[in-house]
Amino acid sequence: MSDLKTYAAWDRSVRAFHWINLLCMIGLIAVGVAILNDKALGVSTEGKILLKSVHASIGYVFALNLLWRLVWAFIGGPRARWRAILPGGRGYLGEVSSYVSGFGAGRPRQYLGHNPLGRLAVAVLLLLLLNQAVSGLVLAGTDLFWPPLGGWIAGWVAAAGIDPATLVPYAPEMYDEAAYEAMRAFRKPFITAHEYGFYTLLVFAALHILAVVVTEVREGGGLVSAMITGRKVLSGPPADQD
Ligand code: HEM
Repeated sequence: MSDLKTYAAWDRSVRAFHWINLLCMIGLIAVGVAILNDKALGVSTEGKILLKSVHASIGYVFALNLLWRLVWAFIGGPRARWRAILPGGRGYLGEVSSYVSGFGAGRPRQYLGHNPLGRLAVAVLLLLLLNQAVSGLVLAGTDLFWPPLGGWIAGWVAAAGIDPATLVPYAPEMYDEAAYEAMRAFRKPFITAHEYGFYTLLVFAALHILAVVVTEVREGGGLVSAMITGRKVLSGPPADQD
């Protein structure tokens, strides 16, 4: 029986990001699904505005948390940095193949940070989160006239004689019809990116959870508790110890 040793894995910022992100995603998905099905649910106009307002308010927390994680990847500890979380770099393909063959043979190489396949998953997840944040922030402007673009969009669509600062959603009498149509055309690719990004994110979030469970069963290491305590328990020296 090999000796178990405890190693520092995830720093406080990474752990806080992870759990704040999860909580925000649960809220965003729940309210997002209600927005998607507003007609079937018989939601009134006021109800729609309320749902979008709640969704976008959680969205700001989500976007700020994500922004902080992206900054942290430049200034954080060794396992929080881009080179530890993104695929690629010198020897990456070799690392993937020895990881996969070790995994297949039942002797997986243990990592303190992400294993090479985990880095691929993290890159895809971060990209999908970024897509939701950017498209969502645009929609907060087009649908609610909220920052960061809301002031500019209100100035674009306000009818002559209407103060853009007083614009409210779902009030066509306050909008210039042609400008409003043009704004809806501008909005279209962002709602498409937000909606398909959402479906893709659901698939990858499920794969992420499945991969954690499979890795935990095959390799151990206490992956879930490591994201709470910051420490992993390994039976041998990690492949990525500095
Ligand atoms: C993980 C992150 C997110 C998920 C899973 C998500 C999911 C969704 C879904 C499913 C919808 C309904 C789409 C539709 O009606 O076609 C939606 C709409 C919306 N989202 Fe998000 N969202 C996320 C992040 C954000 C963020 C960061 C913001 C802005 C701060 C935001 C703002 C909006 C707005 C304003 C709408 C209403 C658009 C509309 O249907 O008219 N979302 N979101």
